Amino acid sequence: MKIQKKISDLLGGQKIVPVAVIEDEAQALGLPKALLEGGVKVIEITLRSDYALKSIASIKQNYPEMMILAGTVNTPEQMQLAVAAGAEGIVSPGFTTTLADKAVELDVAYMPGVATGSEILAANEYGITEFKLFPANIAGGVGALKAFSGPFFDFTFCPTGGVSKDNYQDYLALDNVICVGGSWLAPKQAARAGDWDAITALCKQALVAS
Ligand code: 3PG
Repeated sequence: MKIQKKISDLLGGQKIVPVAVIEDEAQALGLPKALLEGGVKVIEITLRSDYALKSIASIKQNYPEMMILAGTVNTPEQMQLAVAAGAEGIVSPGFTTTLADKAVELDVAYMPGVATGSEILAANEYGITEFKLFPANIAGGVGALKAFSGPFFDFTFCPTGGVSKDNYQDYLALDNVICVGGSWLAPKQAARAGDWDAITALCKQALVAS
């Protein structure tokens, strides 16, 4: 069985995916607004807080223009809950066949984390051609992506993990990179402080430079 949907179709050409931890309703209301004001219409909400699933439902309702991906989806059960809450795409830090089977069952776009050729090939058996390189900077960074462009010439990547304002353009310059992900656009401290202007400014800065 193959996974039919693709994360790139959800992104609509957007190249920067903020990876967020949302801890309460104030953040679920403030963060998407700040991102949208900064021109960013996609958010990856990581399932690392008790409020994560509730925040997906809240953002879906309050900001229907925001494309919601669920991240840190480590089990099929979490995938089921994330999709039920309203996530349109699923991101995981690694690849397992049980996660891929669940994505087939739910008919949802699924981008698994990979760091090796074996993981890429295993995921490709499910029709997956878009991968999160994770942790990008540790897993070889730009050099690994250049090397992957040979044998995996028709596959694309979203490097995440250690991506920052200082290196994201190096990644986006590669032909096999469709987007980059990172928490640098939605820093936890700024969200906790409700410093939404700072987050909007980070987004604008990143989009101008990308
Ligand atoms: C993730 O969940 O994708 C990573 O933790 C994001 O990595 P970063 O915090 O280094 O951007």
